[in-house]
Amino acid sequence: MSASEELEGLAVKFAQEAIELEKKGSRRLAAQKYQRALEVLLKLCALYPTAAQNRVYMEHAEAYRRRIQELQTQAAEPDHPSEGRDPSKPAGFDQWVLTEKPDISWDDIAGLERPKRAIEESIIFPVRRPDLFPLGWPRGILFFGPPGCGKTLLAAAIASEVKGVFFCADAASLMSKWLGESERNVSQLFVKAREVSDNGQPAIVFLDEVDSLMGVRGEEVGGEVRVRNQFLKEMDGILDKKKTYHVYLIGATNKPWVLDEPFIRRFQKRIYVPLPDVKARMDMFSIYAENLRFNDNVDLPELARMTEGYSGGDIRDLFQSTHLKVVRSFFQHGKVADPNALPDPITMEDFQTILTERRPSVSQGILKRYHDWDESFKAS
Ligand SMILES: Nc1ncnc2c1ncn2[C@@H]1O[C@H](COP(=O)(O)OP(=O)(O)O)[C@@H](O)[C@H]1O
Ligand SMILES: [Mg+2]
Repeated sequence: MSASEELEGLAVKFAQEAIELEKKGSRRLAAQKYQRALEVLLKLCALYPTAAQNRVYMEHAEAYRRRIQELQTQAAEPDHPSEGRDPSKPAGFDQWVLTEKPDISWDDIAGLERPKRAIEESIIFPVRRPDLFPLGWPRGILFFGPPGCGKTLLAAAIASEVKGVFFCADAASLMSKWLGESERNVSQLFVKAREVSDNGQPAIVFLDEVDSLMGVRGEEVGGEVRVRNQFLKEMDGILDKKKTYHVYLIGATNKPWVLDEPFIRRFQKRIYVPLPDVKARMDMFSIYAENLRFNDNVDLPELARMTEGYSGGDIRDLFQSTHLKVVRSFFQHGKVADPNALPDPITMEDFQTILTERRPSVSQGILKRYHDWDESFKAS
């Protein structure tokens, strides 16, 4: 199989997974899969800019981008997890164990020096040399901050940096509409994690979007209370000073203020993952500019200043949309018939056009809320 066929296959696989996840009601996970499909298609077009299929790839890429935006606007509503699963079949651990290590390293993450240091001190070093930590180490870390700033990315990097078994559990996979099944899922997850640790390997449990598992909500249905209590119990289990489990718990949330205090307290480290500063944005540009061709008038430092307030996700969208813009215009006006023709290099004006269409996704009011929460609950 050629490299381009392989990439095409990968894009198809991600898109199919996204569709499956949508059917199950997991909008956030579906959006992530569409995003990966989109990234693969853009990479294909960048690697083989003159391939005849590019027009089709671009159409798909556009469709995925639109779908991601639709899913993101709906994501404010709760997911409808596990609908339609057969209650006689428990979730099974395998669906939580990440067998394929994500291909993300520390260097793929711009900025975030503080969160990275905290992860090193509380996970990476103790896993490598537990003997150097006779007083123990924190077992629970909570990342909080605005969406699109690298919380999930940090977890993926931990999974690839740390040798051990990585469990990835989110509301969609744990919560079930079947009575009692959610608590059973939670307890099985931790049973499995302790088993891994008993067998001499570290176990890292990543709970993405913990607020949707733990939220203190107005109209709580009984199931959610029980799931929360189950979690508290399991967390106390791994924090037990008499035992030395190598089980680490990482939680991530965009809405820390919906968590209740008993739950917050059990994360000994609570780390703010903020919007990128100007330097981090510059670093992101070099990550996202890979494979792109720029006109000489593109002034990246100026672009970094213009994107104050943009999240990492916003910046990724900016680069992808700008790239899509020049490729689209190539197919509309370019010399497509010429096998050696290439899309025009991206100009500063292309960036500016897209920037006027895309405002930062995080508002000032919300930023203040994160800041206040950090002041009240920080523990780093
Ligand atoms: N610090 C960063 N460095 C590089 N890319 C980033 C960074 N933060 C966010 N991104 C980009 O934005 C996307 C969304 O980030 P993610 O980690 O899912 O955000 P969160 O979990 O905080 O909502 C990432 O997949 C990545 O492409
Ligand atoms: Mg996330």
